[in-house]
Amino acid sequence: AAVDSAPAIVVGSGYGGAVAALRLGQAGIRTVVLEMGRLWNTAGPDGKVFCATSAPDQRSMWFRGRTEAPLASFLWLDLVNRDITPYPGVLDRVHYDNMSVYVGRGVGGGSLVNGGMAVTPLPSYFAEQFPAVDAAEMYGTYFPRARAMLGVNTVDPAWFESTDWYRFTRTSRKAAGAAGLKTTFVPNVYDFGYMQREAAGTATRSALAGEVIYGNNQGKRSLDKTYLAAALGTGNVTLHTLEKVRDITRAADGGYLLTVDRIDTTGAVVETKQYGCASLFLGGGSLGTTELLVRARDTGTLPDLDASVGAGWGTNGNTMVARANHVWDTVGASQSTMPVMGIDDWANTDNPVFAEIAPLPIGFETWISLYLAITKNPQRARFTYDSASGTVKLGWSAAQSAVSVAMAKKLFDRINAANATIYRYDLFGSSSKVFADDFCYHPLGGCVLGKATDAYGRVKGYSRLYVTDGSLVPGSIGVNPFVTITALAERTMARVLAEDTAP
Ligand code: FDA
Repeated sequence: AAVDSAPAIVVGSGYGGAVAALRLGQAGIRTVVLEMGRLWNTAGPDGKVFCATSAPDQRSMWFRGRTEAPLASFLWLDLVNRDITPYPGVLDRVHYDNMSVYVGRGVGGGSLVNGGMAVTPLPSYFAEQFPAVDAAEMYGTYFPRARAMLGVNTVDPAWFESTDWYRFTRTSRKAAGAAGLKTTFVPNVYDFGYMQREAAGTATRSALAGEVIYGNNQGKRSLDKTYLAAALGTGNVTLHTLEKVRDITRAADGGYLLTVDRIDTTGAVVETKQYGCASLFLGGGSLGTTELLVRARDTGTLPDLDASVGAGWGTNGNTMVARANHVWDTVGASQSTMPVMGIDDWANTDNPVFAEIAPLPIGFETWISLYLAITKNPQRARFTYDSASGTVKLGWSAAQSAVSVAMAKKLFDRINAANATIYRYDLFGSSSKVFADDFCYHPLGGCVLGKATDAYGRVKGYSRLYVTDGSLVPGSIGVNPFVTITALAERTMARVLAEDTAP
């Protein structure tokens, strides 16, 4: 087959891929971005790009016959999920043994489906996770650079205190306060000025219309509107969608050869393409990048990859849980989908937890306080190549999830005790589960910085092969991860463009 070649190729268009594409384009390097998902810029039959959360259609999920929402039930009934036609929808749930992982698919990766919480980790915890990284330089240069490019902003505190849309957050804050716990505002990339106009009835509602996990039609500064728009604006970056990189090998000239399946909207492979490049930047996310490299090492196409490729994977200690408030503590029928506050007990060295106060925007009063807890779970798992099935497996066990649950339970037992409240048992399926222990939103690690790569994301054993995404983060960062992923990618790109010979 004919080989399409470019000096640089970027795999994936999430945070890591988008930063790489912009900085390569600005440096005048012709770059091709390969993204397996679609470009989300054309309206469907309802006039909207993304489907409604309450009436999900084929646009909601990546090749499914039925949606698989994180909150599977209400009063134990599956009221949430719908049968859909398989299609390259925007949210994927990747199933491994004992753990499934939600990821975004499309131009913008996770930025299309996430809650937009843009949190910078505590410097002390960052330094603990990345001892080889100059923290002063990260906090002085790369975190500010990332936040500025991502369009991070904060909710107006006066509006927050008065609006019905954040009653759910204020009720959770009160319950945490009763237990002596500290809460803190968290920034977001959703445009809060726009949100206030939604509330005033002068702008089309998105965050105030329940939109988030299947995409926001307005208001959110996803990567297609920030980094990727700027990357395309350099004139040096080309984007190919519905193209999934399957295999990577080394070319005779020292560059890389990629085998890529181009799919149509039914998922059928319509063409298998070959791409060649001098420099290869992997931004497929913790799952995508790790899978490509584990397969390359273990099938022998890149045999010199380090033994640590595939190791050091964690869930950022994620677990979801919900409490039932007293009847007088209402959470409101109207809830914004963008979280703006967290319960910050990370400084509690016996049991560090940072819990995002999450919305449950289902349109009626539920008295439910929902949380996504991030715990300091030290458990890590490894990806391995299974030659029989040709797939990559994740060795995560139920006991490893139980560690996150135990930590979150300590914190929420305290909140329940102080408020004389109880947990909800009906939200995570028919088995009366209180803590969601079988899925996560924050997959991290697999190609850990300083282990599978050098201290800048250059993959060990090969030249001009780089990792720029969440697989560099060693399993935990203590807060929602995309600001850290973006800032690390900025640091990698600055170093690589300054030091490595231009392709
Ligand atoms: P990311 O997953 O963003 O991008 C990878 C891209 O590569 C995807 O577009 C994928 O389709 C593509 N790809 C993968 N393999 C490929 C292949 N072989 N060929 C071609 N393309 C390939 N974080 C946060 O900080 N604040 C928050 O509020 C939230 N909330 C949240 C909610 C939900 C529902 C989810 C699922 C996730 C979050 N997150 C979050 C997590 C955050 O979205 C996540 O950490 C980042 O998107 C990870 O960025 P990466 O660049 O690592 O990969």
